[in-house]
Amino acid sequence: VVFIDACFKKETKHTPIWMMRQAGRYLPEYRATRAKAKDFIDFCRNSELATEATLQPIDILDVDAAILFSDILVIPLEMGMKLEFIEKKGPVFHDPVSCMEDLARLCKTPEENLGYVYEAIGKIRKNLAPDKALIGFAGSPWTLATYMVEGQGSKTFEKIKKEVYKNPVFMKALLATLTESVKKYLINQIDAGANAVQVFDSWGGALEEEKFFEFSWKYMLEISEYIKKERPNIPVILFSKGIGTYMDKIYGQFDVFGVDWGTPMKLAKDKLFEKYALQGNLEPSRLYDRGEMLKGAEELLNLFKGESGHIFNLGHGMIPDLPAENAKELVSFVHSYTKRS
Ligand code: CP3
Repeated sequence: VVFIDACFKKETKHTPIWMMRQAGRYLPEYRATRAKAKDFIDFCRNSELATEATLQPIDILDVDAAILFSDILVIPLEMGMKLEFIEKKGPVFHDPVSCMEDLARLCKTPEENLGYVYEAIGKIRKNLAPDKALIGFAGSPWTLATYMVEGQGSKTFEKIKKEVYKNPVFMKALLATLTESVKKYLINQIDAGANAVQVFDSWGGALEEEKFFEFSWKYMLEISEYIKKERPNIPVILFSKGIGTYMDKIYGQFDVFGVDWGTPMKLAKDKLFEKYALQGNLEPSRLYDRGEMLKGAEELLNLFKGESGHIFNLGHGMIPDLPAENAKELVSFVHSYTKRS
């Protein structure tokens, strides 16, 4: 399987490509599937609809890997938090956590309430061609905690950063609780049929260097090391956004480092390619313009010419109004440009 081989830096017949948020609103087919559900949470809990959405980018774009259609926030949802996805605003928790008493009230075994995810994975794997990989995922403990403490998306992270500096004991208890659940959640996804797993740390870059390693990376590695010990053949991808300037200090046992668009790939390659495969990192906005897209893709691919271990991806998620035909052309360009006989 091309995607899996690339994660282990083995030679492949072409460079694999998939795109973060490849199942999403930019696809008319996705919007049609979403319309069948009452709301976004109902969509995530419906394994039939989740299977349909997961498989759409495979059929439409011919990407090398499917990523489970779900959301990172199903973990806090199944811990019992009151989650709502509000149109034009994004996710909101009506009952954010801010102290040990709040943490004590949460269910500590959300992975046991996520049967609908494992069921979807089984269905997807059954309907996916054998040469395509299925990627399972979870949010990093830090990124999940940002939503649980802030109660919604944030630009400044004032509430959670106050906890980091003023109340690290509470923060670490929350992060340790999430870490235990994410470990088991990902193992369950693998046992249901996921062929690789990615941990999304979208807000790692909100932390200064010392605190990033102490409050985010440490827990991501704990998860990765657990999976590498329990399921050594499953590639683990770690994606922290906005930490390009901390790359010198990246360490630990995992397979693929996800590079965000703000980090020059050349720099990531110099620092990390000796030890890890690299995934990324075309700026998603390049897909607004076909010429910019192809030029950016070619430059990125030229960095890895003749070398194994690059997985083409965007440097963050697909944007809802990007043209689907450009995404399609990007996939066929990457495949033909990197074809090895
Ligand atoms: O195709 C895929 O990549 C798989 C599905 C997926 C979704 N969310 C579906 C989704 C994945 C991997 C995620 C991860 C996720 N969710 C992250 C980490 C990755 C990142 O983007 O940084 C984060 C931070 C979230 C939390 C979240 N979920 C937000 C902030 C939003 C609202 C943003 C928006 O675009 O409206 C969501 C909702 C969400 N998750 C949508 C999708 C397709 C849009 C919901 C809709 O259809 O209205």
